[in-house]
Amino acid sequence: MDKFVIEGPTPLRGNIAISGSKNAALPLMAAALLADSPTTITNVPKLRDIYTFNNVIRVTGAHVEFDEDNNCLHIDPSHINHLEAPYELVRKMRASFYMLGALLGKFGEAKVSLPGGCAWGPRPVDLHLEGMKTMGMEINLDKGYVLGKANDSLPGGTFTLDPSSVGATVNLLLASVLKAEEFTIKNAAVEPDVVLLAKTLNKMGANIEGVGTDVLTVRGVDKLQGLEVDNAPDRIETGTYMIAAAMHPESELTITNANPVDLGVFPKTFEKTGAQIEINGSEIFVKAPKELSPTSIQTKIYPGFPTDLQAQWATMMTQATGKSIVTDTIYFDRFSYVPELNRLGADLHVDENSVTIKGQTPLEGASVMSTDLRASVSLVLAGMVAEGRSDILRIYHLDRGYEKLEEKLNSVGANIVRTEQEE
Ligand code: EPZ
Repeated sequence: MDKFVIEGPTPLRGNIAISGSKNAALPLMAAALLADSPTTITNVPKLRDIYTFNNVIRVTGAHVEFDEDNNCLHIDPSHINHLEAPYELVRKMRASFYMLGALLGKFGEAKVSLPGGCAWGPRPVDLHLEGMKTMGMEINLDKGYVLGKANDSLPGGTFTLDPSSVGATVNLLLASVLKAEEFTIKNAAVEPDVVLLAKTLNKMGANIEGVGTDVLTVRGVDKLQGLEVDNAPDRIETGTYMIAAAMHPESELTITNANPVDLGVFPKTFEKTGAQIEINGSEIFVKAPKELSPTSIQTKIYPGFPTDLQAQWATMMTQATGKSIVTDTIYFDRFSYVPELNRLGADLHVDENSVTIKGQTPLEGASVMSTDLRASVSLVLAGMVAEGRSDILRIYHLDRGYEKLEEKLNSVGANIVRTEQEE
């Protein structure tokens, strides 16, 4: 297992290019299986989760070729002959559960393992399954697997997501576009990843009305054609590097290949800290303030403050000159990073689904443990402003969601070395 050794503090100055979005690419990969012809997805990041999903898709017999030099994925669904997604792969990555919607939606039959997912709390899929039943699919659970069956044409109906769910919206779109007479999803997720999927499905020949709103009506079509689609830049990576640029008073970064529109309220909230930003098309210039103003946030569904930036924000608030509160209304226990930050000298206290951060606390390097993807990158952010050496253990979590993290940060002045972690 690898670890990062980080020497801090280091100001960050220069340019960082944003990679393609993991969470936008995964639904597009699943959608490719619905087509009768091959699909090419460009701007796909070289991340563990993408490789994992490539292997999940290959189990079905589909051909997947990842042109790594060009970040290009070619998926040919014409040889699918095995309608399963096995536990040993699905447990590695929750989004593999999209195979249920894709295989049921195309072939009317699927055996897909229930997902494992990140460590914080149970992550249910009840909305996925109830929505498919509402549409007319037969869903049974058997020894940790979902066994699904669907006739060629299903009546459809109306299903309300409570709470709104990115994954359930994705899975129900995949399941319905070829199968359902007419199926309406209410309180659908409007995250950019979902909007890109719906737009792409329509380009493939689907009939989805209400794209971009929280009411989606699908009218089933006979077939879908593969296409070439450009994956979105990673909005969470973008927000992460903006936060990195604000944490040391002498930092200034130009973030390129971004899509600022996908950030929702984040830039406006970010400016409340005193950080200066200038947005020009796909470039975001960030200049750190001399002092960070404490700014409390509550996570919300898009376009609200994204839960995937919650840990990074709390980390930045350790350097703000006063108290702030970070509340996660999406995941009530996504605070596994807190004890690790406190080991570095921060002063965070969790109470139910909020963490109170007392700033400003100088951070001292120490050994800390990654626990999940977004908590891990927060420890890297902290290590870059902590005095002295920090060892960040179990960084395989990072490799799931941040392409070339240490290369990108070292190119703008960080001092991060990836080494073997002694057992
Ligand atoms: C997606 O997960 C993202 N993953 C997550 O990013 C992100 O944190 C999350 O959306 C919220 O934005 C991918 O896109 C691959 P949800 P997902 O279904 O779809 C509840 C990362 O760091 N719920 O929108 O699993 C659920 O418990 C990952 O890249 C049900 O109750 O999230 C949660 O409280 C982590 N029943 C809320 O909905 C269900 O059937 C939102 O979850 C499904 C969800």
